[in-house]
Amino acid sequence: MLVEIPDVMLNDGYRIPAIGFGTVEILGNKGTLQILNAIQSGYRLIDTSTNYDNEGIVGKAVKNSGIPRDELLISSKLPGKYHDFDSALKIIEEQLARTDLEYFDKYLIHWPNPDDGKYVEAWKALIQAQKLGMILTIGVSNFLEHHLEKIIDETGVVPATNQIEIHPYFSNKENVKANEKFGIITEAWSPLGRDINDAKQHPDIIEIGKKYNKSAPQVIIRWLHQRDIVPIVRSGDPIHQQENLNIFDFELTDAEMEKIFSLDKGEEGRVEGQHPDEYHEYD
Ligand SMILES: NC(=O)c1ccc[n+]([C@@H]2O[C@H](COP(=O)([O-])OP(=O)(O)OC[C@H]3O[C@@H](n4cnc5c(N)ncnc54)[C@H](OP(=O)(O)O)[C@@H]3O)[C@@H](O)[C@H]2O)c1
Repeated sequence: MLVEIPDVMLNDGYRIPAIGFGTVEILGNKGTLQILNAIQSGYRLIDTSTNYDNEGIVGKAVKNSGIPRDELLISSKLPGKYHDFDSALKIIEEQLARTDLEYFDKYLIHWPNPDDGKYVEAWKALIQAQKLGMILTIGVSNFLEHHLEKIIDETGVVPATNQIEIHPYFSNKENVKANEKFGIITEAWSPLGRDINDAKQHPDIIEIGKKYNKSAPQVIIRWLHQRDIVPIVRSGDPIHQQENLNIFDFELTDAEMEKIFSLDKGEEGRVEGQHPDEYHEYD
């Protein structure tokens, strides 16, 4: 059964679905079929990146899906080595060629890479790419409050979305609050903690799920939804893909929300210890 995903309004007037499909490790011909299956299950927002080596198959799935282009939202990201203005515009053109798309619906700076000191320049390039019609809505990823402040102060343009790490072991309240302060919609990456932590098997989350006849991943996705966060969830498994969308027919109580917040491990909880002030995105 196709689940209808509600929309979320962004600060620039665009709307995105309340759940997106993640594509890390979704690769090759098998990956194309997995993306096609996700689209058939109802996902409309597809998150990719040059760093994932799958922009080509994302474009192929879009073409083969039979879904009108304007009903799908394809989101890609600017890799760290292209933060200078001219390179950023050229790589966006290249990414569009790889995906065989005329525009990206959404596009993010993947990491601020503060040691390079060029994320403001990168943000200016995204603003220009939007003006040129290559991108509809522009945003960032892994930006902390002071990175956001800097790009907004220097350009006057507020990102529409900020995609950051959030899952039960890293609830990331502070970064979410900063996004809210600027009217930025938060997207959650690794919402299930990938395979690196065991939040999906945590007994407290399983226990909460029993009450609603829901799995632990469904409880986690619902916890994010009730925080007004857009989870970008990845699954190559058709059953999991469907399951992860079936979260709109129950509501967690305040006590259950707090129970999940209590699992937070602070900085220790990050899946790969990638603090945005220190992490240099791989080139
Ligand atoms: N902006 C950034 O810097 C950044 C960083 C990391 C990730 N991302 C984005 O965020 C997306 C999601 O993060 P992620 O891929 O790291 O991990 P994730 O979505 O937290 O977890 C994916 C893992 O959970 C499993 N899974 C999914 N649904 C399940 C279910 N219902 N039951 C049991 N297992 C389930 C998947 O296995 P199966 O395939 O077997 O279902 C997979 O192994 C990425 O794919 C990417 O698009 C962005």
